[in-house]
Amino acid sequence: MGMVMLRTIRAQQACSERWRRRGLRLGFVPTMGALHAGHLSLVAAALRNVDRLVVSVFVNPIQFGPREDFHRYPRTLARDRALLSRAGVDVLFSPAPAAMYPPGFATRVTVEGPLVAGLCAPWRPGHFAGVTTVVARFFQVVRPHAAWFGQKDAQQVAIIRRMTQDLGTGVRILVGPIVRESDGLALSSRNRFLDRAGRMAAPALWRGLQAGRAAIRRGERSPAGVRAAMRRVLAPVSPVRVQYLDIVDAETLQPLYRLRGRVLLAIAAFVGRTRLIDNLPVRVPR
Ligand code: PAJ
Repeated sequence: MGMVMLRTIRAQQACSERWRRRGLRLGFVPTMGALHAGHLSLVAAALRNVDRLVVSVFVNPIQFGPREDFHRYPRTLARDRALLSRAGVDVLFSPAPAAMYPPGFATRVTVEGPLVAGLCAPWRPGHFAGVTTVVARFFQVVRPHAAWFGQKDAQQVAIIRRMTQDLGTGVRILVGPIVRESDGLALSSRNRFLDRAGRMAAPALWRGLQAGRAAIRRGERSPAGVRAAMRRVLAPVSPVRVQYLDIVDAETLQPLYRLRGRVLLAIAAFVGRTRLIDNLPVRVPR
């Protein structure tokens, strides 16, 4: 049986309900499309673990700030559809914005507290509320047993885990590793915005993270020292402008005063006009 594309909430609900009644295990991979090997690695992992897989392609307007790139975010639905069909996905769910957010829609699902205190949250007000709202809504419609997310968006994963636990939705959250280009650049739908100079410069994010890890392995235990090692790699690279460079506890995402346990090195930077993020979990030797 080939893949079907569903565009309405009711069609997806009916489909999921039929599968559930048959006792099938449903998986879900939410995306904003412009699919690349990072997305497809989550799809492949999901396919190994479920009976039926739904992948959504929806550029979620409410997770973009007024000065962000919603209108120019890449939309490549025909290509995405072909990739997902070839991968063996059962349903491509791609609702119109008006289906997800009918006139009068006024609800937000938000996670508060320490998980939204640092990293991307202060730089993107309202972003994570937009993400949790759309993911909660997708979970209601698709009713998956398990959903796959990428380590690329580490803060998003932590926030969604918190939300599913707090709401008791019973969806298992699984995480796939970051897929990179051969020069270390993390795959992102936004990489296509990079010009030649930007594309040459962008792997500096990964080299900066590696320099931070090397400093930890040499015995550096102060966040300031690790940050300095990362800055030494990033500062000379043009056109890279660091927005934040953080070292936090890998579980709680809380700032650390002395490095121990599992930590996360995380970076956001503008490469030209394109904002990129990357991160690297590191186990601090005792
Ligand atoms: P999007 O950026 O399209 O990413 C969809 C999923 O793919 C996310 O879980 C993301 O972490 C993962 N992903 C992206 N790049 C990756 C890479 N290089 N390696 C591995 N996984 C990668 O994240 C979103 O969409 C949205 O916020 C969404 C959750 C769909 C809600 O709108």
